[in-house]
Amino acid sequence: MAGRAELMDEINEVSFALNETTLYLDTHPDDQQALAYFNELAPRRKELLKEYAQSYEPLTSTASAGSGRKMQTISSGPTVRRPGKEEQTYVELRKRLQFPVNITKTCPKTARLIISQFGGPDGELAASMRYLSQRYSMPCRKIGGLLTDIGTEELAHMEMICAMVYQLTKNVTVEEAKTAGFDAYYIDHTAALWPQAAGGIPFNACEFQSKGDAITDLTEDLAAEQKARTTYDNLIRMIDNPEVREPLKFLRAREIVHFQRFGEALENLKDRLDSRNFYYFNAEFDKQFSLV
Ligand SMILES: [Fe+2]
Repeated sequence: MAGRAELMDEINEVSFALNETTLYLDTHPDDQQALAYFNELAPRRKELLKEYAQSYEPLTSTASAGSGRKMQTISSGPTVRRPGKEEQTYVELRKRLQFPVNITKTCPKTARLIISQFGGPDGELAASMRYLSQRYSMPCRKIGGLLTDIGTEELAHMEMICAMVYQLTKNVTVEEAKTAGFDAYYIDHTAALWPQAAGGIPFNACEFQSKGDAITDLTEDLAAEQKARTTYDNLIRMIDNPEVREPLKFLRAREIVHFQRFGEALENLKDRLDSRNFYYFNAEFDKQFSLV
């Protein structure tokens, strides 16, 4: 039987592939090859989660049901077994991030940079709010589904960024805050999480748009993914600690994937328009107001 780390690696790999296939199927629901791949991956993931729950602890509530062990509470920390008789029956659910974040060294200077991907103009909070707002007025249901899935994933990325900032600052001393340029933030928030850009500008909803026009919104989404990718490029250029770089590299890879999926969505939409104009336009709107 595989060891704990090997099993977790396999769960991560299968989950990554399943996540990719789900996004692809949002805009290609009839692709038989992708459907077959999905049908291969989904039961495999379920099997691996069950195996992990039986040997260690459940990672999801459904895995708990399959393992024959009952879930007690949801915990983001290490598993704590209850003493006495209950020890045999109840275990806690171990909640995990989309990609592991285990930073062992306090570094408020790095936290101050990374926080931009929490509350900055191209951060994960803006990304999730953008897509989860736009999805309601997206006329094409397939693309609405894609916005829902990517918007939800961006929340998981925000959770990773917040975990990184938290781990980089949880033991910060006043002296360290002063020398690392973290003092102004410390005055306002101590070491708590608050959405702002690296430059100190607070998060606000003007950092994203939800315009109610499919072409406008998807064009913004493509630009948003590139801006987020460039911000990750800049962070990876500046940060040396591998414990910080690895999750950043994962997040950067996800921006590239999202850009690809939004590109396909825009192509899909374009196929349904009168595309005489090189630059896409909204044919129905233009006809209505005699602009063409
Ligand atoms: Fe993204």
